[in-house]
Amino acid sequence: MKFLSFLILSAAGSAIALPRGGGGGHKGNGTQSATAVSGSGCKQLNKLTALTSLAANQTKLDEVTKGNATKAEAIKAKASAAATQLATLQANATLVASCQQKVAVRAAENQCEEMAKLEKLQALVANQTALDEKTKNNATKADAIKAKAAAGATVLAELQANTTLAQICAVEQTKSLCRDMSKLEKEIALAANATAVDAKFDGNATKVAKFEAKVAEAQAKLTALQSNTTLTSECASLKSTTGSGSASTVAQQAASTASASAATASGITSGVASLQSLGTFMSVASAMLFGALLL
Ligand SMILES: *[C@@H]1O[C@H](CO)[C@@H](O)[C@H](O)[C@H]1NC(C)=O
Ligand SMILES: *[C@@H]1O[C@H](CO)[C@@H](O)[C@H](O)[C@H]1NC(C)=O
Ligand SMILES: *[C@@H]1O[C@H](CO)[C@@H](O)[C@H](O)[C@H]1NC(C)=O
Ligand SMILES: *[C@@H]1O[C@H](CO)[C@@H](O)[C@H](O)[C@H]1NC(C)=O
Ligand SMILES: *[C@@H]1O[C@H](CO)[C@@H](O)[C@H](O)[C@H]1NC(C)=O
Ligand SMILES: *[C@@H]1O[C@H](CO)[C@@H](O)[C@H](O)[C@H]1NC(C)=O
Ligand SMILES: *[C@@H]1O[C@H](CO)[C@@H](O)[C@H](O)[C@H]1NC(C)=O
Ligand SMILES: *[C@@H]1O[C@H](CO)[C@@H](O)[C@H](O)[C@H]1NC(C)=O
Ligand SMILES: *[C@@H]1O[C@H](CO)[C@@H](O)[C@H](O)[C@H]1NC(C)=O
Ligand SMILES: *[C@@H]1O[C@H](CO)[C@@H](O)[C@H](O)[C@H]1NC(C)=O
Repeated sequence: MKFLSFLILSAAGSAIALPRGGGGGHKGNGTQSATAVSGSGCKQLNKLTALTSLAANQTKLDEVTKGNATKAEAIKAKASAAATQLATLQANATLVASCQQKVAVRAAENQCEEMAKLEKLQALVANQTALDEKTKNNATKADAIKAKAAAGATVLAELQANTTLAQICAVEQTKSLCRDMSKLEKEIALAANATAVDAKFDGNATKVAKFEAKVAEAQAKLTALQSNTTLTSECASLKSTTGSGSASTVAQQAASTASASAATASGITSGVASLQSLGTFMSVASAMLFGALLL
């Protein structure tokens, strides 16, 4: 895993620092003033960008308001009132860049998840025994799963061909295993403390016995994971790099590199174009946003 070490080193040396937690502003109350927004960040930018893009798209407005013109007008009025705030946020290049990076990280994480899902599906259809088990020998169901796998094959091949993505996913996978390990360690530590176990299960012997059986399984899993020294040393570096949040910095760094090269490749360098793509991404959430705004 040379790549991981490389990422950790470059992340440690990089000046990229994302605002943690985001500012957000108030939820569910559209009357926040301009001053209330001054301390906000990405969340606010995303929210207002989505609101503005929603207000500008009558088709989407109709969808979201189910054709209620009063509601649509209210959204337009809200977007119009927020225009100055949005312009101020958009003028902050640091903020815009960090938001784009977050969007890129999230997109990559979603792609990793999708890839894992599609790989699992391929493995399932390649294993008749497993498929029979899963479908309880129902050939109709098995055929449906096979069709789904076939339909996803092209997407999977595309995802797998992306080496940048593969590197990000490898980091994500390691992070996930490290989290698993520390969870198992905690469970086992708890089990070793009879007082704590008794307290947790109110002294219910049935529950305690069940828990102990689970812990035995956890111990076996943990031992297996710990026997992988590559993994344990990677988890140690992730923990020590910059304290909390270092692991996500690794992925952020990777995604940032990826999105930067993608942007260069396609010639998207203007802030306007970047914001439009951010808006497109965020517009997916506009139905949710609509709910939050009008309540
Ligand atoms: C909305 O927020 C403003 C300012 O924070 C506050 O004065 C007002 O009472 C809030 N309205 C509702 C309905 O919560
Ligand atoms: C407007 O919204 C519709 C429905 O969500 C979408 O298909 C369309 O691409 C959007 N138009 C623009 C210009 O973004
Ligand atoms: C449209 O929305 C407004 C405001 O939420 C509501 O008062 C009204 O009843 C709605 N009209 C219809 C036809 O649903
Ligand atoms: C721009 O955004 C960054 C990151 O959110 C923030 O730290 C900075 O204070 C903002 N600058 C201005 C002028 O608002
Ligand atoms: C590969 O994946 C990265 C991370 O999601 C993405 O930024 C990049 O655009 C992808 N490259 C190609 C050629 O699809
Ligand atoms: C196929 O699936 C069965 C049942 O889940 C499993 O026991 C077996 O190891 C799998 N075979 C292969 C080659 O993965
Ligand atoms: C097999 O699955 C299909 C689709 O889910 C269902 O309609 C059918 O009743 C099932 N057949 C049997 C024998 O269970
Ligand atoms: C065991 O758990 C109890 C209750 O949670 C706690 O007070 C005690 O310090 C623990 N003992 C050890 C050795 O960790
Ligand atoms: C202990 O837990 C079991 C399983 O949850 C429950 O069925 C049983 O009633 C509990 N016994 C006591 C004494 O609370
Ligand atoms: C050990 O962990 C590394 C890093 O997560 C992984 O790439 C490798 O496949 C693991 N080795 C085994 C034998 O599971």
